[in-house]
Amino acid sequence: MEKLRVGIIGCGNIANGKHMPSIQEVDVFEMVAFCDIIPERAEAAAKKFGTPDAKVYTDYRELLKDESINNVRVLTHNDNHAEISIAAMRAGKHVLCEKPMAANYAEALEMYNVHKETGMILTIGYQHKLDPDVLYAKAEAAKDTFGEMYYAHANVVRRRGVPTHGAFLMKEKQGGGALIDVGTHAVDTTLYIMDNYKPKMVLGATFDKLKHNPEQGNPLGNWDTENYDVEEFASGFLVMENGATVVVEASWALNVRENTGVRYKISGTKAGLDNYDGFLKINGVNNNQQYLHEVDFKGGQVAFVANAVDDLPRVKEQKVFANAILGKGELVTTPESALVVSHILEGIYISAKTGKPYYFND
Ligand SMILES: NC(=O)c1ccc[n+]([C@@H]2O[C@H](COP(=O)([O-])OP(=O)(O)OC[C@H]3O[C@@H](n4cnc5c(N)ncnc54)[C@H](O)[C@@H]3O)[C@@H](O)[C@H]2O)c1
Repeated sequence: MEKLRVGIIGCGNIANGKHMPSIQEVDVFEMVAFCDIIPERAEAAAKKFGTPDAKVYTDYRELLKDESINNVRVLTHNDNHAEISIAAMRAGKHVLCEKPMAANYAEALEMYNVHKETGMILTIGYQHKLDPDVLYAKAEAAKDTFGEMYYAHANVVRRRGVPTHGAFLMKEKQGGGALIDVGTHAVDTTLYIMDNYKPKMVLGATFDKLKHNPEQGNPLGNWDTENYDVEEFASGFLVMENGATVVVEASWALNVRENTGVRYKISGTKAGLDNYDGFLKINGVNNNQQYLHEVDFKGGQVAFVANAVDDLPRVKEQKVFANAILGKGELVTTPESALVVSHILEGIYISAKTGKPYYFND
């Protein structure tokens, strides 16, 4: 079998925690080149995950010159997702770039346009769409279990969970705070289940009220207020073209009892669903009784979804990308949907600044 040769650009946390161990589990890929502006990181990654003759770079442009490389992972901070992905597509490489698509909508749009122009595959690392509960929910939605989905909550509410590592607190590097970091997953996952990426208007607000509190109580360690210029909490009220509404909440720090991962709560005309207990529950009325249907994922009930029982979402993400490259399958995260998510995040930021609703088609 001829292997698809992979180049890794950015060898930090997400590279080591998600991508490289997952790529290793996909036979068709081999990691042949590693780049990081901190050379020791690229060297360590090459040693641990690379082929014996893997190359190491500090400048991604040099890596992209290798014509034998078929596809790359862009795993750097948000501020250079667009620059590197665009250069990679122009060099004839398929791209899986980490979320969010870019640090702002204009850059995401540029990436999208270059994908269209070059015909290279472009996808974004929204792995939560491959979580077993989301796959199950999506399969039920396809059977019209929920009817018309017209009201939703999309959120990640961390009571305290400010990421103090990397560049997450710097607007210049990331483009924003809790919303662009974790809120982006919640918005994407919820719209995916609703099959609705057509926003009309959003009203948003952002806050950084707890940043200067002397009592931090942050499980990820004390943050540095001097280098912290992004929001700790954002909320939004999103109205879709078809009239459906989505309440968005994303916090790294908020005085609430909850401390959650990516959550969705969606109400349809036939039934509703949520993962608020940490697993999927479907609610509805049947035989004139209210029911609450809990899916037992440990029991293998998602077996109808290929590999759902065996593969972790992060491994499935790599397999989906491989199949798209080989023409054997469709992307789950299309560049179109990721672009819309970036537009929604930007709409919330703009509305928060102006105090006015943001209209997507203006
Ligand atoms: N999908 C998820 O759930 C998830 C989770 C965490 C982070 N992320 C995303 O992953 C990306 C990276 O986050 P991280 O936590 O790994 O950060 P990190 O700081 O740990 O790693 C980023 C790496 O990129 C390197 N880098 C920066 N500029 C570079 C350049 N021009 N060329 C080559 N290397 C460069 C840095 O030196 C660093 O090693 C971010 O976009 C973040 O949003 C996604």
